[in-house]
Amino acid sequence: MKISLSLLTTSAFCLLGALSQTSCSSGGYAVTTGPGPGYAYGPGYPVSAWNTSGFYGGAAYYRGASWNNSGSYHNSRGGSASWDDGSGSASGWRGGSASWGGGSGSATGWRGGTASWDDGSGSWHAWVRLISSTHARMSTIRAYAASSAKGTLEPFEFDPGDLAPEEVEIKVSYCGICHSDLSMLDNDWGMSAYPFVPGHEVAGTIVALGREAKGLKIGQRVGLGWSASSCLSCPQCLSGDHNLCATTQATIVGRHGGFADRVRAQWTWVRPLPEALDLTKAGPLLCGGTTVFAPLLINGISPTARVGVIGIGGLGHMALQFANKWGCEVHAFTTSDSKAEEARRFGAHYVHNTRQDHALKPLTGRLDLILSTINVPQDIPGLLGTLAPKGRLHVVGAVLEPMAVPALGLIFGQKEISGSPTGSPETIDAMLAFSARHGIAPMTEHFPMSRVNEAMDRLRSGQARYRIVLENDWND
Ligand SMILES: NC(=O)c1ccc[n+]([C@@H]2O[C@H](COP(=O)([O-])OP(=O)(O)OC[C@H]3O[C@@H](n4cnc5c(N)ncnc54)[C@H](OP(=O)(O)O)[C@@H]3O)[C@@H](O)[C@H]2O)c1
Ligand SMILES: [Zn+2]
Ligand SMILES: [Zn+2]
Repeated sequence: MKISLSLLTTSAFCLLGALSQTSCSSGGYAVTTGPGPGYAYGPGYPVSAWNTSGFYGGAAYYRGASWNNSGSYHNSRGGSASWDDGSGSASGWRGGSASWGGGSGSATGWRGGTASWDDGSGSWHAWVRLISSTHARMSTIRAYAASSAKGTLEPFEFDPGDLAPEEVEIKVSYCGICHSDLSMLDNDWGMSAYPFVPGHEVAGTIVALGREAKGLKIGQRVGLGWSASSCLSCPQCLSGDHNLCATTQATIVGRHGGFADRVRAQWTWVRPLPEALDLTKAGPLLCGGTTVFAPLLINGISPTARVGVIGIGGLGHMALQFANKWGCEVHAFTTSDSKAEEARRFGAHYVHNTRQDHALKPLTGRLDLILSTINVPQDIPGLLGTLAPKGRLHVVGAVLEPMAVPALGLIFGQKEISGSPTGSPETIDAMLAFSARHGIAPMTEHFPMSRVNEAMDRLRSGQARYRIVLENDWND
């Protein structure tokens, strides 16, 4: 890659100089990058004053103790740069893109032919099209993609194009593997497109913000779950039920997901992570956690309720924790005796093996809510029999076969069957806060992302205990 950023740097440095009340002679700077090592400097600003610590391979990397007396900058690479310090300085400039920030008189977010920067006072936003389109491209995203249904995931690179105004780009640190990733890989739901990049339980940090992205900051720890975009103008979006928006786009449907070094989503769905949450385990909360937390909220479950959870997998083991901390009497339904002890540790007061004959009989008329997380047909009449009057069977597991529901099983006792898709942004936030407050986290197994196929096989085999998390092992 060979990029000349002289126009960009001249403009940026002059602006930066102006912002930090120092003079800036136009044309005084040239940053060039090429296949070999190089340095960047300008008249009056010798390299020594910048304390640069590296500029390499079509990439630049600077770290300066002082620049314009009050600022330094660092991390400029590949026609990319970012720089940062306390004041009059900047961070994040990459690929004909730039962002920079600091204390005051500084800036954040210049990228893709677009610049925006912000300092809280007298700041600048949305500097658009300062630079030519040659410089406006974000760099390539590296991912793992399958080229056909049930195919192996292979390294795959794609150009994400310009960042849309409402979009946010996240550097993926960790990504959980949900069973829905497997179902989408296999095209079980008939809506997969290939190349297919799975991954919708992302934990990472924001590296770029579109100029209309709200409430988020570069460098912020965030999570992204199943949904990546919604219209923001339909009755559902306007009433806070964004996950019910008819045009909601899923992170892995018609988009490339989080088995990648970076992923993009509309700002609405990029949720800040509370400090108390461990980034390595936060991803699975975003889809799996939200999906089993939402039914407690939307069904108005009281703390005195008796709650059953069917299937102690990725979703189910988090459901046990939520229901327990909610205050409920918690029943785990599993086909695996080997999970009984752990199910109790997650919060189950009772564990039932559904493979045993008459396992449901002792529970007749007892449960207020049954949350089903399995994706295979089950004994619906038997389950309705375990519900107390006004009880509810709530389905989140994606069973493809139609359910055989006996009308009388609903009528007597005024029982209900319902389902729900993940949760709204507000529900995600509530779930994250609840998790942080009560120390709720998935039990995880970790694989480097480069061993993604092994990780998928382990989930497919039913051996995972209880959620697999991929760790980004691409070198920056
Ligand atoms: N509604 C939504 O928005 C939403 C969101 C996320 C996921 N999902 C769906 O929820 C389902 C669960 O996802 P997950 O990630 O939790 O999957 P998972 O980690 O694979 O867990 C599924 C659990 O189902 C049980 N199970 C598996 N095969 C079974 C069988 N033949 N009979 C009875 N139980 C069986 C197992 O629990 P035991 O060993 O305890 O029996 C297993 O651990 C999937 O269908 C997924 O697509 C839906
Ligand atoms: Zn999921
Ligand atoms: Zn909408």
